[in-house]
Amino acid sequence: MRTVVHTRQGDPAEVLRLREDPDPPPRPGAGQILVRLLVRPVHPGDLVGVEGLPGLAEQRPTEVRTPGVEGMGVVESVGPDVPALRPGQRVAVFPAPGTWADFVVVAADRAVPVPDGVSDETAALMLVNPLTLVMLYRALDNALGEQGKGPVLQTAAGSSIGRLVSAAAVRHGLPLVNLVRNASGARRMRESYPTLPVVTTSDGDWREQVRHHTGGRPLQVVLDCVGGPLTQDLVTLLADGGTLVTYGRLGSGTTVLEELPLVQRGLTVRGVTVWHWTHRTPQERAQDVAFALDLAQNTPELFEVAARYDLADVNAAVEHARRPGKSGTVLLTSPRPTGAAQEDVR
Ligand SMILES: NC(=O)c1ccc[n+]([C@@H]2O[C@H](COP(=O)([O-])OP(=O)(O)OC[C@H]3O[C@@H](n4cnc5c(N)ncnc54)[C@H](OP(=O)(O)O)[C@@H]3O)[C@@H](O)[C@H]2O)c1
Repeated sequence: MRTVVHTRQGDPAEVLRLREDPDPPPRPGAGQILVRLLVRPVHPGDLVGVEGLPGLAEQRPTEVRTPGVEGMGVVESVGPDVPALRPGQRVAVFPAPGTWADFVVVAADRAVPVPDGVSDETAALMLVNPLTLVMLYRALDNALGEQGKGPVLQTAAGSSIGRLVSAAAVRHGLPLVNLVRNASGARRMRESYPTLPVVTTSDGDWREQVRHHTGGRPLQVVLDCVGGPLTQDLVTLLADGGTLVTYGRLGSGTTVLEELPLVQRGLTVRGVTVWHWTHRTPQERAQDVAFALDLAQNTPELFEVAARYDLADVNAAVEHARRPGKSGTVLLTSPRPTGAAQEDVR
């Protein structure tokens, strides 16, 4: 059994190592399942967990920690009181801390059976990003209010999430401006979403370009996962009373909250995290999972894969995940099981 581990935060290339254990995998307890993982993503948030956040005190894991929160695999065994799942069944899991390993034990209610026709790779990507989209759209609806229809801008529009947001904007007729950081990213977005305007921050006049695309109207909402000094510019483009929804920190540097005209202009800053998804009611969560399954079944092209690496090549995978211009998500894979448990694997 192979497990990616780290005992301190820092540069993934320095702190991550692959541990090989001769011991059998752990046994699931009551209400739990043991999943033999086949595919798991390398999300930006996974790397934050390894490195820590700049500006925040280092969190020292008190014990060995394994990154990863999402993945797909095959149920290896089930504990007592798990009527709905059986060994050999394909499942996607989230939130499931420690998926960068060959096996993970997870509560059965965090496993979603993978429908026939959904590939292993799509299944490995079908929970975190679609559920983040759900959370972002809810924040967007609240910020737009009853008559509000935008305009809205999103940063890092070429990201995997940004593409989901763009597809949803096209579907709902939301006036969205996509912001990227360079011309090649802009070209890719225009090819994929030709009806949505794209602006590049490497152009000196990018703020004027945004205003041009909104017909001079200030932005009602910004969805931002870059942060840093860009925040000042984003706030300048917002309408009085507008909302900055922040959900990531891809950029470097910081913006001082007190230097933003939040009070004078009645602005709102709202943080969104997919971790709060677990606070939703069971009925709401079931609806959200049904939405994610529908996306995976009917629009698998929205779950783009940038590259695949064996779990043992975790450092190469992390390096690729951070490469500028990468499109899609990097996956970490494990060999498929042999024998009876293979029957459901696609
Ligand atoms: N809050 C939550 O619960 C939650 C959940 C999931 C994801 N997220 C966040 O959502 C964001 C996107 O995640 P993802 O998995 O979709 O990312 P991804 O597929 O890895 O894509 C990253 C994108 O960001 C762009 N980028 C990277 N650094 C940038 C910078 N400094 N300035 C501007 N653009 C930059 C890259 O563009 P280039 O083509 O220019 O390289 C690439 O398009 C991340 O910040 C992640 O942490 C948050």
